[in-house]
Amino acid sequence: MKVLITGGAGFIGINAAKRFVERGDDVTLYDNLCRPGVRGNVDWLSQLSRPGSFRLIEADVRDASRLAAAAVGTDVLLHLAGQVAVTTSVLDPRSDFETNALGTFNALEAARHSGSNPIFLFASTNKVYGELDEIVVEEEPTRYRFRDLPHGVPETQPLDFHSPYGCSKGAGDQYVHDFARIYGLRTVVFRQSAIYGPRQLGVEDQGWLAWFLIASVCERPITIYGDGKQVRDVLWVDDLVDLYLTAVEKIDVAAGEVFNVGGGPERTISVWSEFGPMLESHLGRKVPVASAGWRPGDQKIFVSDCRKAERLLGWKPRTSVDEGIRILHEWVAGNRALFG
Ligand SMILES: NC(=O)c1ccc[n+]([C@@H]2O[C@H](COP(=O)([O-])OP(=O)(O)OC[C@H]3O[C@@H](n4cnc5c(N)ncnc54)[C@H](O)[C@@H]3O)[C@@H](O)[C@H]2O)c1
Repeated sequence: MKVLITGGAGFIGINAAKRFVERGDDVTLYDNLCRPGVRGNVDWLSQLSRPGSFRLIEADVRDASRLAAAAVGTDVLLHLAGQVAVTTSVLDPRSDFETNALGTFNALEAARHSGSNPIFLFASTNKVYGELDEIVVEEEPTRYRFRDLPHGVPETQPLDFHSPYGCSKGAGDQYVHDFARIYGLRTVVFRQSAIYGPRQLGVEDQGWLAWFLIASVCERPITIYGDGKQVRDVLWVDDLVDLYLTAVEKIDVAAGEVFNVGGGPERTISVWSEFGPMLESHLGRKVPVASAGWRPGDQKIFVSDCRKAERLLGWKPRTSVDEGIRILHEWVAGNRALFG
């Protein structure tokens, strides 16, 4: 298959590209390499793969004509390119809009005019559900929990875009969903929770779990915003890529659908009250942290209800939080040079 991955040099993109390359697909990464360090991801994949098994187009998703040219004849378009931080979106909402909303629209149009009716997979976000103000949350000693949602937040939760990032990703999410209805494009929307794994160049504003590991291994200052009891469901990147591949395989069922995707209730952790002690036991030492107030739009708890993906596609995450954190810690410790 001919596979085009926008944002293919990024964390999720390079992990997905590796898997498509291993299957023998003809893979193109389309990325403007704006995220610091991602060129190293491309070099890493080059070292692993036989020559010619993938190529990189260094270009921007805001450039509609280059994207359209890249998409001609494509069988699968995995659209991952994006401005990924809420904080950056607040500082520069126009760029955020242009990359996420317009960039996604450009990718859809590129797919629609590609001449090959590609499968179109889109990495949306759980942020499209907003702050979930009306859901009752209870406080426990180390974490928050939903009082009435034991399985987590389902796809039927009303949308409530919050922050420019929420709006731009949400606009993309709705366009992708609607292109299936209006044009019959075989699109699938994945509303992803926190994804983590190797090749993630986490920073304070995005990729929190990788960031805490990188900062603690490199002995950089860590700030905990809020009370550290915020709960996230976390999903190992290979489990996410399994889902992408399953959706391609079962596209007759997946096309036109929206899926919440995360670790689900079995793979949750609170960002510092629970993660901190685990990290300290991995490192064998205390990790000093500073505290600061809550950040705007920071949900006290988000846990995905992933049962729709299991029911329709037979997908379930496999990697436990303990195992994932152990592997990611080893990767960070073994690749300190990547983090300056
Ligand atoms: N990582 C997560 O936890 C998570 C959670 C929910 C949703 N997502 C979504 O998944 C996608 C991939 O996330 P990631 O974690 O791999 O992020 P990432 O920053 O590692 O990868 C994004 C890639 O897109 C590229 N890019 C950015 N703007 C571009 C543009 N205008 N044109 C071309 N390329 C551009 C960057 O250079 C980078 O390589 C994003 O759309 C993100 O919103 C990620």
